[in-house]
Amino acid sequence: MLLSLMLLLLACSTNKQDPTENKIDSLISLMTLEEKVNMVHASSSFTSGGVERLGIPEWTMSDGPHGVRKEHGRDWVADSDAKDSASYLPTGITLAATWNSDLGYAFGKVLGSEANYRGKDVILGPGINIMRTPLNGRNFEYLSEDPLLISKMAVGCIKGIQDQGVAACVKHYLANNQEYERNFVNVEMSERTLREIYLPGFKAAVQEGGALTLMGSYNKFRGQYCTHHEYLINKVLKEEYGFKGAVISDWGAVHNTLEALKFGTDVEMGTDLSMLPTPNYHNFFMADTVISLVKSGQVQESLLDDKVRRILRVMFKTNMFGKRAPGALNTPEHQAIALKIAEEGIVLLKNNAILPLTKASTKSIAVIGANATRKHAGGGGSSQVNAKYEITPLEGLTSLADGGITIKYAEGYRIVKDGKADKKLIEEAVKAAAGAEVAIYVGGFIHGYSDSWNDNAFDSEGQDKPSMNLPFAQDELIAAVLKANPNTIIVLYGGGPVDMTKWIDNAKSIIHAGYPGMEGGKALAKIIFGEVNPSGKLTVTFPKKLDDSPAHVLNAYPGDSSLNEEYKEGLLVGYRYFDTKNVEPQFVFGHGLSYTTFGYSDLTLAKSDKMVTVKLTVKNTGHVAGAEVVQVYVKDEQASVERPDKELKAFTKIFLNPGESKDVSLVLNEDAFQYYDDVKHQFVLEAGRFNIQVGSSSRNITLKGDIEF
Ligand code: BGC
Repeated sequence: MLLSLMLLLLACSTNKQDPTENKIDSLISLMTLEEKVNMVHASSSFTSGGVERLGIPEWTMSDGPHGVRKEHGRDWVADSDAKDSASYLPTGITLAATWNSDLGYAFGKVLGSEANYRGKDVILGPGINIMRTPLNGRNFEYLSEDPLLISKMAVGCIKGIQDQGVAACVKHYLANNQEYERNFVNVEMSERTLREIYLPGFKAAVQEGGALTLMGSYNKFRGQYCTHHEYLINKVLKEEYGFKGAVISDWGAVHNTLEALKFGTDVEMGTDLSMLPTPNYHNFFMADTVISLVKSGQVQESLLDDKVRRILRVMFKTNMFGKRAPGALNTPEHQAIALKIAEEGIVLLKNNAILPLTKASTKSIAVIGANATRKHAGGGGSSQVNAKYEITPLEGLTSLADGGITIKYAEGYRIVKDGKADKKLIEEAVKAAAGAEVAIYVGGFIHGYSDSWNDNAFDSEGQDKPSMNLPFAQDELIAAVLKANPNTIIVLYGGGPVDMTKWIDNAKSIIHAGYPGMEGGKALAKIIFGEVNPSGKLTVTFPKKLDDSPAHVLNAYPGDSSLNEEYKEGLLVGYRYFDTKNVEPQFVFGHGLSYTTFGYSDLTLAKSDKMVTVKLTVKNTGHVAGAEVVQVYVKDEQASVERPDKELKAFTKIFLNPGESKDVSLVLNEDAFQYYDDVKHQFVLEAGRFNIQVGSSSRNITLKGDIEF
């Protein structure tokens, strides 16, 4: 009320076109220096300051990318009354494996609606860093190794979140591609690599998704901390990309007051851990020191005004001064979305005629492995969720079998520190497998949470995995189970590639489930029994072994002894490397099987000016309904500079009944053919021949055609 009255009076004295900008100017003109400073730093671990006198509330934030995080109470003082449960959605890697941008939107809608319900103004996600190494502990939160796929999925997600009246916070800007020494590592890469691989997701987030906030990452880039980076934030993000929202620091990522003020940080977040239990946020870099710097004339107040303006802009856009439509928590619609994403995001990697199982004729199943009963929502670091519920694979299978199938469970291995092969558990597992018609092995990686130890078992923030090997001696167990019952389906949870070389030749069927969320066990069971036809596709190449992957073969991870890390592989991240250098992966980017088959035909390429329209027909040539991801790659045949063998430039997912055909039309704009010229400092289109390749994965290319520019 007070605010509206003041704004009304003041709006009359300004003359800008945009009424909201007028209101913002008016508010800023009413603020004292201290009040402005109060808005640009944390006021508790998940709020930044408001100005009560002017009716500006605190800004309330919460993790995270796949569900609203459990409450930690103000400044981590436990809140026993916390109403903090939420929907636990499939994590980033599983969401992106749907290759369905409509599901990106649906995912964002759930996140935004629940954040709103829980009283949050900003939800700290999506996480869109490039998956550069299989070892990154946070790959499970991220989307892909490919910038186009990331862009399409992130844009949907951001729009879904922001349509619910809360702001998305796209993280982590930039080059936070590993957790190892994330606070200190200094990333070096060529300008071309930056522009072609690491920036496009963020550019799309801002320009197509309209992201209202971004989070600056912990690491350094070209010698300067990313959270206050003159080039990345001021020049690229705010000037070139026209970003009008606010840059929020990662928690505790600000290192210097002047740099933060000048180089684009708009809000300094973190917890004043040094002063707990009575934190003092006046100590923050962007707190009282700023007051002295402005008063002594060393810093102009206009710098601060710009930050306050950006924050207020987001506050107005998210209706913090008006009435936000109410949010909702764990509704049947949210549950259905979580299920749908899991159904479309679980990837069938290999299938030699065992799947799907037939419910009516299957009499006995042995379910083996600790992930069959493990819940994952609570772990992983800041992305933890206090899930309303989480259906485990064993629960999903048991419920679908509905008493008609005898299901026996054997643990197989234990989730313990340095877990070695346990002879007794292996014997039990072998016995169960041998005594059943089919065995379903559910293992892989986990998140750490209440466990007080860390090792390569974990997909987790703050640490990388030491290797791509399965933890808890699972290789030995899997080999024994496969020997006992060749009809074993291997299901792996985890945030990315796994070394399967020790047993893959004997495995008839392998499923990668990622982290499929609260409905994951149900979705998995439906896929196993053919109630759902799998349509997920890998968003990251699975190398055979770690040393096949680019950052590792080039010794470009995890940085030298001074923690400088040159991204020596440059543009050749993921399949761009494997295809260009002819290295055979275990499973290729874009790969994922279905229970039906698809035929591709009638490719036509039509060029008009600098745009190419790709048309083709896809037919479901099998006996069950299913979805196919049509992928379009571009290969520059006559480049004067190094270019990857091929690059994903368009894709779409289509649903087809048996025998049904659909015409697909995809447009490749000029940027699909361009590369970044680091002499001209711009993207250029070089004349010559381009080969357009269409298929169901990066290596299963069924149609090809040339186009000349
Ligand atoms: C993480 C961010 C997270 C923040 C707040 C940081 O440690 O890197 O992704 O949003 O904490 O919990």
